[in-house]
Amino acid sequence: MFTFNLYLARVKKRISWVNRLIETTMKYGYFDDENREYVITNPKTPYPWINYLGNEDFFSLTSNTGGGYTFYKDAKFRRLTRYRYNNIPVDNGGKYFYVKDGDTTWSPGWKPVKTELDHYECRHGMSYTKFKASKNKLEVEVLQFIPLGFWGEIQKVSLKNASSDTKKIKLFSFIEWCLWNAEDDMTNFQRNFSTGEVEVKDSVIYHKTEFKERRNHYAFYSVNSPIDGYDTDRETFIGLYNGLDSPDVVGEGQSRNSVAHGWSPIASHYLEMELKPGEEKELIFMLGYVEVEKDNKWESKSVINKQPAQDMISAYDTSEKVNKALEELRTYWDNLLGKISIESEDPRLDRMVNIWNQYQCMVTFNMSRSASFFESGIGRGMGFRDSNQDLIGFVHQIPERARERIYDIASTQFEDGSCYHQYQPLTKKGNAAVGGNFNDDPLWLILSTTAYIKETGDFSLLDEMVPFDNDASRAKSHFEHLKASFYHVVHNLGPHKLPLIGRADWNDCLNLNCFSEDPNESFQTTENQKGGTAESLMIAGLFVVYGKEYVKLCKQIGKEKEAEEAQLHVDAMVEAVKEHGWDGEWYLRAYDHFGKKIGSSENEEGKIFIESQGWCTMAEIGKEDGMVEKSLNSVKEHLDCDYGIVLNYPAFTKYYIEYGEISTYPAGYKENGGIFCHNNPWIMIGETMLGRGDQAYDYYTKIAPSFLEDLSELHKVEPYVYCQMIAGKEAHKPGEAKNSWLSGTASWNFYAITQHILGISPEYDGLAINPCIPSKWDGFKMKRVFRDVTYNIEVKNPEHISKGIKKILVNGTAINSNIVPILEKGKEHSVEVIMG
Ligand code: BGC
Repeated sequence: MFTFNLYLARVKKRISWVNRLIETTMKYGYFDDENREYVITNPKTPYPWINYLGNEDFFSLTSNTGGGYTFYKDAKFRRLTRYRYNNIPVDNGGKYFYVKDGDTTWSPGWKPVKTELDHYECRHGMSYTKFKASKNKLEVEVLQFIPLGFWGEIQKVSLKNASSDTKKIKLFSFIEWCLWNAEDDMTNFQRNFSTGEVEVKDSVIYHKTEFKERRNHYAFYSVNSPIDGYDTDRETFIGLYNGLDSPDVVGEGQSRNSVAHGWSPIASHYLEMELKPGEEKELIFMLGYVEVEKDNKWESKSVINKQPAQDMISAYDTSEKVNKALEELRTYWDNLLGKISIESEDPRLDRMVNIWNQYQCMVTFNMSRSASFFESGIGRGMGFRDSNQDLIGFVHQIPERARERIYDIASTQFEDGSCYHQYQPLTKKGNAAVGGNFNDDPLWLILSTTAYIKETGDFSLLDEMVPFDNDASRAKSHFEHLKASFYHVVHNLGPHKLPLIGRADWNDCLNLNCFSEDPNESFQTTENQKGGTAESLMIAGLFVVYGKEYVKLCKQIGKEKEAEEAQLHVDAMVEAVKEHGWDGEWYLRAYDHFGKKIGSSENEEGKIFIESQGWCTMAEIGKEDGMVEKSLNSVKEHLDCDYGIVLNYPAFTKYYIEYGEISTYPAGYKENGGIFCHNNPWIMIGETMLGRGDQAYDYYTKIAPSFLEDLSELHKVEPYVYCQMIAGKEAHKPGEAKNSWLSGTASWNFYAITQHILGISPEYDGLAINPCIPSKWDGFKMKRVFRDVTYNIEVKNPEHISKGIKKILVNGTAINSNIVPILEKGKEHSVEVIMG
């Protein structure tokens, strides 16, 4: 028996080794850095790999098989096309094309028909996606993008007959309208099945549900060619007993010209065409959104005013116009990405910094945590803490938009510094249903504001009058908002003189004042412990970091007295942490409602947490006493694993009512022992405080997606963007990732790599140079456009150290500071940095 078990164990081990080998060698595409694209060559990715189209008001999500949806400004309140989350299969529904070539029907994005293609390629680029497919010598390309400043998505469809026979092709388009409010659309069927309305004129299908009453907007789907038919009623098009893969109409090869009255309106065009050998045809489809004045809604009784739609359509009715708009989009991204670019020894690093990480920062800036394939677009608006943090990866791209965002966020604050946790982008008003009291929230405003001023030198933001609670009559200067943020912590200290946690700090799931026994209760919005005395070491570290920033800012603007007073509070916090926040080998995480330690070696589970190690080491609390070093060594010993740094260890295996949601997750997932990628850079930055560049970079590469490309099978989500969470070492499947795209991970990793590891960071009076890199590097180059000045920086590392600067030459002349001053605008300047 024993030998048999041994044999079995060996076989199992071998199988898991083979599995792992397969997992680690499977790729689904490649990076095309030249074109700034990720090229997916196998449609059956381990999860839908998506892209975002649109940069300001109008957005689409597009998967690598054509799934996804479109919205205007707000994914909850202004959804244009329908998408079913939690579907089977998971990504089912989107903007689809059906090509009928003889007896063969297929889709250029492979789905929904799933006919095997002779060639398939999905190129996700900067705000556009291109499908290239062919079957039986018919080549079809679908290019999707949203022109800059435009409220419509273009799909340019090119068809080419590469065979030697004439082909008769039938083409069907398909989208399904959403009845605007995405949540209502998925719940209120008793009403919604009776409200749907459309109009069809020429080649345009208009969606006008609720237009006759309170809405002053409609949507349309057009094509720049006469059509041979259309459908607007879903069941007529698909048939009640079919799926999207085999609509009745496509099967029959003839549309039915259905006009939807209620039920589920869709838009499908039908086009017949003949292509001679070698012949090509281009069609331009447009999905657009129109707003009209209240007294200009109608053309005639019950007929909507189509002029604005017509104007939009004619703006892009030729391939030339579309190509020009695509060129403009390319130039736009050239400019944005041209502001920071590097040349290092590793192309995987270059493509993260130069392309994908910056791109993701723009997407998180636009979306906050609202709409992805893991965020339904109806749950969350813009987060106070999230959106502030997103700015540190975005502010160099379009500072004007960052300024506006800071203003919008600060407007949802209250006079005492507290704030709404979230707000809706359409109204910009705080979300009362979610409320506030997350006591870390206010401090992030100091981060975003100082990052903005350092990038731009624009101190005028501080004088801007900004409302409290969106009430203009209660406006005060933006500086007063920062002051309120700072003093919110000072005024909310607990028994150990450490910050009260409130509902939770950055870790939304550490709900120390919510003892919940009711599964129908939200951990986030329930605060049922009288007195609320739980304290957070994470906020303590955060306060020291941004308290120091606040002091520095006050000095910059001549508020010496305010600076002095604030400094006293910062010093007091440092002392409180040293006295009550140190566990011997690492910083504690918190004190619970009963005043018991969390994140201590005394605890049975959750002995050590990442957040307080990150913030207290970044704050350098007790560095002189070796606390920073000990803390980071403990992180390495207890939290690090093959796939990144886990949030806490050991993970909780039972429910602790006094800890809240954190202990509800299975061990190794999310906030309970998962690798929560957002906070890994805090440790990287902490490491740079000690000058340990090898360790900092090692942590960087563990979670940077381009470094995980070969692991795609296990990792599951896109290899070109960060995800929120990778399953931790105690999980069932360590290394498997979830929740890609919308996460503070994007901005924090960009900030850590560029400003702390590569070490080029904006300061009030210039560009600070302080790299902390792997010792084996010979150096690197960075081009940095800062305050309209171009700095061509070359860092040389002849002695192979991690940190330390021997000499900096600016345009050939040595300077005696590590801050390169603001040089002549509009010019290029060389900066040579010799480490040593
Ligand atoms: C939230 C953040 C939060 C993090 C950790 C994310 O889902 O958007 O606000 O800090 O989770 O709990």
